[in-house]
Amino acid sequence: MRIALHQFSIPGFGIARRRLFAIPALPSSREVLIREAHNAAWPEVNLDTLQVNKSGRRVRQHVNPFKEELQVLIDSPDWTQIFHQPSLPLTVDLGCGPGRFLLASAKRFPANNYLGLEIRQPLIDRANDWSRAMELAGQVHFIYANANVQLSNLLRSYPGPVDLITIQFPDPHYKTKHKKRRIVQPALVQTIKDALRPGGRLFMQSDVLEVAEAMRDEVEAFAAAAFDTVQGHLPGPSQEMDSNRSMAADGQRAWSACGWLADNPIGVPTEREVVSLELKLPVYRVLLIRKDH
Ligand SMILES: C[S@@+](CC[C@H](N)C(=O)[O-])C[C@H]1O[C@@H](n2cnc3c(N)ncnc32)[C@H](O)[C@@H]1O
Repeated sequence: MRIALHQFSIPGFGIARRRLFAIPALPSSREVLIREAHNAAWPEVNLDTLQVNKSGRRVRQHVNPFKEELQVLIDSPDWTQIFHQPSLPLTVDLGCGPGRFLLASAKRFPANNYLGLEIRQPLIDRANDWSRAMELAGQVHFIYANANVQLSNLLRSYPGPVDLITIQFPDPHYKTKHKKRRIVQPALVQTIKDALRPGGRLFMQSDVLEVAEAMRDEVEAFAAAAFDTVQGHLPGPSQEMDSNRSMAADGQRAWSACGWLADNPIGVPTEREVVSLELKLPVYRVLLIRKDH
């Protein structure tokens, strides 16, 4: 009996066979599902149609934010070279990943400028290519920068008000010795507090309860008096888990008693959010409003 080559199913052989005969790989069903979820999540960001950066450059899964080149303070940019209208209110996404959240936000809410900070250079290069291809280059910009090092300088030099800062699905860094790599640190909280305009918003979300609690608690510990929590936080798992923290030292109800927002109040998801929701993972969200003082 003759067996046709395509009938072989030896693990790994499919790849070898495709290379041998230059057969293009079919997208896996998971890839198809993710692409469909992406197209549904950001209908205004149809990246399939854009002729941009298809170099296939490898993107590392993780970059150490303590790596030397990410500790060097960069000069603040000339904002007039970056944004068409540098006095517009600014939205900043810290650890923006691939960047669709900002690109879709700019399409939906064109009255702001959008800045993404990210420590994986290939993602930044591609996101800026996408921004140009979508004709958003004067309104959406991505910078290769460690938020913990550069944010303060960047925001102090920005000519307009800082309207919204987002920290979404940050790297969890579970190991105790790596927790100092987490993005939400006391100095970053101080920077955010100083930068946001009165009424400006800080939005944080994660699908890891411990990470969401740590972000919220860090802001509460270092800037509670500067923020209001918003109506609409629902009682969530943190209420049970944190019952011993439901009263802050000054007798005020602690933020842990507020639970988590059920829905994304911004209305535009991130890449990680789309995947988490597809996988039916819980997402823990906090929205804080900068007080007047
Ligand atoms: C899990 S990804 C989430 C990406 C995106 N926010 C989302 O929700 O899809 C976290 C991102 O934060 C970036 N990152 C980690 N530490 C950072 C830092 N100190 N400054 C800027 N970006 C950072 C990582 O490179 C990674 O792309």
